Amino acid sequence: MDLFAYKIIPVVVLQNPEDARPVGEALVAGGLPIAEVTFRTEAAAECVSIMSEIEGLTVGVGTVVALPQIELAVEAGAQFFVSPGLRPELIREARLAGKPILPGAVTPSEIMEALSLGITTVKFFPANLYGGVAGIKALAAPFTSMRFVPTGGISPANITEYLSLSCVAALGGSWMIPPALVAAGDFEGITKLCRQAVELAAAAV
Ligand code: 3PG
Repeated sequence: MDLFAYKIIPVVVLQNPEDARPVGEALVAGGLPIAEVTFRTEAAAECVSIMSEIEGLTVGVGTVVALPQIELAVEAGAQFFVSPGLRPELIREARLAGKPILPGAVTPSEIMEALSLGITTVKFFPANLYGGVAGIKALAAPFTSMRFVPTGGISPANITEYLSLSCVAALGGSWMIPPALVAAGDFEGITKLCRQAVELAAAAV
C-alpha cells in the first residue's frame, strides 16, 4: 500500500459516528480516497469501522500514542497507523500487525533513531512550529534518505511550497474537513475542498 500515492492524507477528527460515512464518501468523491482518523475522539474506533466499509477508501488511524490503540485500530479495520512521535514499541506492534506506520520525528536525534529502526518516512508535526519548509530543508541536508510528511498548519496557501520539496513524500492535514462543514452536513463542501487540494497537489509535483 502506498500511503503517499495521493500526496495528501486527510486528517479526520469526528465527534459523531453518524458523520463517518458521509465524510468518507465525500473524500472518495473529491479524489482523496484515504483517511487518517485520529484517536482524539471517543468516536474514532467506530468511525474507522464505518469508513472501512466504504468502497475504495483506505482508512487508517492517527494520533496513535499507546500500544492498545494498535489492537483496537486493527479490530476496527484500520490499514495504517500514524503517530505524532517515535516509540519503538509502536513501530514493532504495527509491523507485527503487518501494516505500515508513519511515526513522527522533528529533530536530528529523532530522525537518527527512526533510521535505526528502519523507518524511511516520518511525519513532521507540527510542521508550522518546527520550521515549516525551511526546517524540513535543513533536516533533509544531512539526512538525504529521509522523506517527510509535514502536518500541522497545512492549507491551500502552502501546499505548493511543501510539495515542491523532493524530500516531501506527502502532506497531512484537516483543512478539507472543517468541523463547521461537518456540523452543517455540508459534505459537498468537503468534496469541493478535496478537489481543490488534489488540483494544487497535481500542479505542485
Ligand atoms: C494531525 O494530527 O496530523 C494534525 O492535527 C493535523 O493538523 P491540522 O489540523 O493543522 O491540519
